Parts: sequence; C-alpha cells; structure tokens
Amino acid sequence: MISKAVSDNLAKASWIRRMFEEGARLKQERGADKVFDFTLGNPEIEPPPAVLAAARRILESDAPHLHAYMPNAGQPRVREAVARRLATATGLPYTANHVLMTVGAGAALNTVLKALLNPGDEVLTVAPFFVEYTFYAENYGGRLVVVPPKADLTPDVARLEAALTPRTRAIILNSPNNPSGVIYPASTLVEIEALLARTTQPIVLISDEPYRALVFDDVEVPQVPPLVTRAIVATSWSKSLAIPGERIGYLAFSPRMPEAAALFEACTFTSRVLGFVNAPALWQWVVAEVGDQVIDVAPYREKRDLMYEGLRRIGYECVKPQGAFYVFPRTPIDDDVAFVRLLAEEGVLTVPGSGFGMPGHIRISLTVERDTVVRGLPGFERAFRATRGGRP
Ligand SMILES: Cc1ncc(COP(=O)(O)O)c(C=O)c1O
Repeated sequence: MISKAVSDNLAKASWIRRMFEEGARLKQERGADKVFDFTLGNPEIEPPPAVLAAARRILESDAPHLHAYMPNAGQPRVREAVARRLATATGLPYTANHVLMTVGAGAALNTVLKALLNPGDEVLTVAPFFVEYTFYAENYGGRLVVVPPKADLTPDVARLEAALTPRTRAIILNSPNNPSGVIYPASTLVEIEALLARTTQPIVLISDEPYRALVFDDVEVPQVPPLVTRAIVATSWSKSLAIPGERIGYLAFSPRMPEAAALFEACTFTSRVLGFVNAPALWQWVVAEVGDQVIDVAPYREKRDLMYEGLRRIGYECVKPQGAFYVFPRTPIDDDVAFVRLLAEEGVLTVPGSGFGMPGHIRISLTVERDTVVRGLPGFERAFRATRGGRP
C-alpha cells in the first residue's frame, strides 16, 4: 500500500519519534518526574499577549471577507506590511510582489523547491541541518547534498565549492541553526556570494531563518539579501511568536535577483498546486499587525547558560549556541546513538546528531522548564562518567 520511497523514509526519519516512544516507556516505568525530555523543539511558552489580542480583535471584526479566498500569494496589504519591514531591515526595495505568504517555513521551503528543481537536481546544505530538507528535496525528485562544516560549525565555503556540480540549483542555509544554535557570520555570506558569482548556472541561496529573532548576547544575525544577490528568505513566526501550530510564514525574493518576478509567479503557482492555496487568513492579518513582536528570549538565554555551562563543567565539548533554543554538544564516545541510549538509562532523553547529518553529537532542546535543565544535568554527568569507566 505505502510507496517504497515513503516506506524507506519512514525508516530513516524516525529518530525523534523513536525517542518520543522511548520517553513514553520510561515515563511509565519510572514516573514522569524522573524523566527529563529534551527531544522536542516545541515552544513551551505562550504567544505574546498582543498577538492573542490581535487574533481576538480580528475574529470579532465585522469587516467583510476577512476569511475568504484571496490572491494565492496572500493578502496584498499583508504582503506590503512584510515588505516594509524587510525594506527597513535590509535597505533593499522590497514590495508586496517580492513577498509570498506561506503555511509556515516548511511550506515556504517546499514551495520554492518545487519551483526550482528538475528531477536529479541537487540542493546543497551544511551539516548539522534540519532533517526535513532531505525529504523536501526528494519531494520534487531532487537530492540533498550535505557538506561538513568547519570546527566552529559554520559553513566551510571551500567544501561547498567542491560539492557544486552542474546539477546544483540551490544552497539552503539555516542560521541561527537548528540544531547547533550557531549564527553564520557575514564573512561567510560574502565568500558564498563570490563563489556563486563564479558558477556558470544561476544558483539561489535559500536562507531558512525561523530563529532569526531568537538571539542572545547582543549578536546580530546578518541580513542575507544585501550580501548575496540571489537570496530567497524562507521563514515563519512559528518560533518568534511561539505559534508553530498556526502555520504562518513567508518567502521573500530579493529585489536584487534578476529572476525575482519569475520566481514569485512560479511560487504563487506551486504554493497553490501543492494544495496550500493560501496561507491562513486570520494569521496573515495578525502578523501584519504584530509580526514584529518577539517572545521574551531571556528565559531561553538563562537555560542556554545553565545547560552550556553545566555541560562544560562536566567535561563535554560544545560550541556555545548564540541563538535558537538548542545545545549541540559532542558525545564523549564516537557512537552518538549508543550515548543517547546511555543517557536514556539515566532518564535523560536527547536526539542523536546522526539525525542532523552530524554523528558524534546530541541535540538538547531547551523548550523545557528551567527546573528540567537543573534536574537533568546530573544525568548528563552520570552518563559522561560511565563512558570514562565511572571516573570523573
Ligand atoms: C530549521 C528549521 N526550518 C524550518 C522549520 C519549519 O518551521 P515551520 O513550523 O514554520 O514550518 C523548522 C521547525 O522546527 C526548523 O527548525
């Protein structure tokens, strides 16, 4: 009944689900308060009050046709509002016709990949990466090619260059990164622009940036379109407003890109025929009003500090996350899957780095209570010591 491709992918993609099942088993066995679940990247906080108030106001409004079909790219007034924000942030002349509202970042990526890929085409990305990219590329007969990063987990542009082929159509970068929390510097984007200028075929840079607003330590996430000519931003309000269940995001085609108008038209079509038709009407109106709000990142910063410093004290090696809500330490043994099992024995649930194209690491999600971090750290310590024959 199930296609071969989907059966194969189900087998490959089940890490987070397997950990979820393992967690359910452990909670039943030991009691929920003795299991520390760091597997899911689902915001545990509520959306900002202004966002919920805007949604209520719009629902109570008697204005006509608020909930009707609309142009497939989204409400022109909403796209204008997003374009104004982009123009301010980048200094580039974005208009409503550079912005296409989508059903979250996931739909944004699918919409643009469908518009770009012929069967056999390749999409480059840098490890560690959001595992869905593999499946999104395969949805359209494409192939994801994963390039290892530098030691600091930023892109290695020489390796990206070595991976380019005549079939390469796009590069997807995700910064702040899921799962590492690393922010890619402007200098990397400048190098990528120089690389793309040397290729014979046009290659787009898709900047997947749903964590842009979740940044600590006064670090700035560089704007990609001023630095890379063929830049497409794919993003959402899932994380910045803690509304991932509402499914609202957008694609923005850089005004600097010669193909911007053609891509806008193609993506308006692909978003429609993928069955999205248009992004949710209510949430388009909401983000037009309050889409520049951001959740309070202070609790995430505090949990990042607690977890990062706690792990370092124990002896884990880890690149310090500067954004998003994950920590991605090295495992003290090479086999990350075996180490995840050891942690589970200690009541601590994490996801192996193998699931993000980067074995030898684990992903720890900080979308948990502060107390879970504090009470979970001793389990990280016991598992670490167990790999050292019980010695500190
Ligand atoms: C890197 C990355 N890209 C895209 C998405 C998809 O986000 P959305 O919920 O907006 O579809 C996620 C969600 O976790 C993500 O981590």
